[in-house]
Amino acid sequence: MKHIIIAIDGYSACGKSTTAKAVASKLGYTYIDSGAMYRAVTLYFLQHYVSLDNPLEVKKALADITITFKHNPETGNSETYLNHLNVEREIRKMYVSEQVSPVSALHDVRIAMVGLQQKMGKKKGIVMDGRDIGTFVFPDAELKIFMLADMSLRAYRRQLELLESNQMVPLAEIEENIRKRDAMDTSRKENPLIQAETAHVLDTTHLMIEEQVDYVVRLATSIIAQP
Ligand code: CDP
Repeated sequence: MKHIIIAIDGYSACGKSTTAKAVASKLGYTYIDSGAMYRAVTLYFLQHYVSLDNPLEVKKALADITITFKHNPETGNSETYLNHLNVEREIRKMYVSEQVSPVSALHDVRIAMVGLQQKMGKKKGIVMDGRDIGTFVFPDAELKIFMLADMSLRAYRRQLELLESNQMVPLAEIEENIRKRDAMDTSRKENPLIQAETAHVLDTTHLMIEEQVDYVVRLATSIIAQP
């Protein structure tokens, strides 16, 4: 059977990873969370006081970083490892969310992460979510989705997610973080978040998770079935 690349891009916290994970599982594809990679880099930079204004320091830090994903059979999820340590929970914390966009805007960080992502997707059969997957990482992806949702809903959904990992963060703080990240991610010089020309727009504001997953799976199966 033909294997394709599914690129899911969009604004912060609008359900990309939940959708991508479920689509991958339905199709028997590998899910790759590109945002987790930028979060892991950010965590390392914070832990090692890397100055973002110093390209040499940034380059050296990147050379010392290994990012991998491992399947956790207990949760059924793929988890992020930074230099062989499981950082899946740590990278979701607010102090990382607050710094991730400036780190992601750095030229050297983008070169390193995009290279890694392209390597991971070489064999196709992947669902990757992020900001620049359909535009820069895999411009030839067979299926591109651009996701959006109302701001208040996005903040509320993110608050629930954080609560599930025992973090109580006020809605206003979450909303401010999402707004700031959206602004930086869409306005940065390199690989900004923009809708790919051929992307299917998926507004999840009034959708149940199953509906958004079905929408993507239906599009994917029709592409896969094409000769
Ligand atoms: O889960 P959420 O949508 O809040 O964010 P994420 O996917 O974990 O991504 C965190 C941050 O990483 C984003 O706000 C971007 O600054 C950056 N990112 C990026 O620059 N390019 C990507 N392909 C994915 C994420």
